Amino acid sequence: MRFASIILTLGLFTSAQATTLGNILKHSGIVIQECAIPRTAALTFDDGPNDYQIASHTWTHPDLTTLTDAQINEEMKKTDEAIEAILGVRVAYMRPPYGAVNANVTAVAKARGQDVVIWNLDSQDWNVTPAESEAIYNTTVATNPSTVLALNHETYNTTATEVLPYAIKLLQSRGYKLVTVAECMGSYPYQWAHLPARNLSSYKCT
Ligand SMILES: *[C@@H]1O[C@H](CO)[C@@H](O)[C@H](O)[C@H]1NC(C)=O
Ligand SMILES: *[C@@H]1O[C@H](CO)[C@@H](O)[C@H](O)[C@H]1NC(C)=O
Ligand SMILES: *[C@@H]1O[C@H](CO)[C@@H](O)[C@H](O)[C@H]1NC(C)=O
Ligand SMILES: *[C@@H]1O[C@H](CO)[C@@H](O)[C@H](O)[C@H]1NC(C)=O
Ligand SMILES: [Zn+2]
Repeated sequence: MRFASIILTLGLFTSAQATTLGNILKHSGIVIQECAIPRTAALTFDDGPNDYQIASHTWTHPDLTTLTDAQINEEMKKTDEAIEAILGVRVAYMRPPYGAVNANVTAVAKARGQDVVIWNLDSQDWNVTPAESEAIYNTTVATNPSTVLALNHETYNTTATEVLPYAIKLLQSRGYKLVTVAECMGSYPYQWAHLPARNLSSYKCT
């Protein structure tokens, strides 16, 4: 489950993109590049795992646009089922590796009740120095976007120790409310939730 995480925390149970079926919240496979709620900023972190709440980033981190529908579904299904066994939640959002999306990816996501989250600010933290990432935040915020949906990676320690303290201070100083992706969409991070499996040794990662 190396790539199971983008971090999301609890949001409100209202969404224009989702419909409820009984107690199940079904998202419709839209590609989310921007937040829906003005003056919100959501910082997302790929490539965990980590200790926070959570969404799917596929099982083996492939470029999903190179796969068949069956393969795309397997990538999503294995991750969804592992997260559900361990945490007791069925995630409502997924982050496609490399941000690679096509109509097949969104169709499979929709069938799985999920939306596909990309970004409108790429910190490039995997690729450039912390100062360069900070400059990217700076330049983007200088254009006064209504919302910020930022891609970061939790696998680089300078993202946590340098880039984020800068970005958080900057965003807050410009009046952005820092929220989760679900909150920035006015939605809820999970399709359903229950207790985790009591005996995880009975969970088989297939
Ligand atoms: C992509 O989706 C189309 C439309 O459903 C389908 O016909 C096609 O087989 C899919 N491609 C792959 C590689 O699965
Ligand atoms: C951020 O932008 C301001 C101008 O908007 C500039 O004065 C400052 O040097 C920039 N800082 C970084 C780290 O790029
Ligand atoms: C984080 O990065 C700094 C330098 O960039 C390094 O000295 C430090 O050991 C790293 N910490 C961890 C926990 O990897
Ligand atoms: C947990 O599940 C495993 C495999 O199904 C089983 O062998 C084991 O006895 C179970 N443990 C408990 C405490 O129920
Ligand atoms: Zn990734």
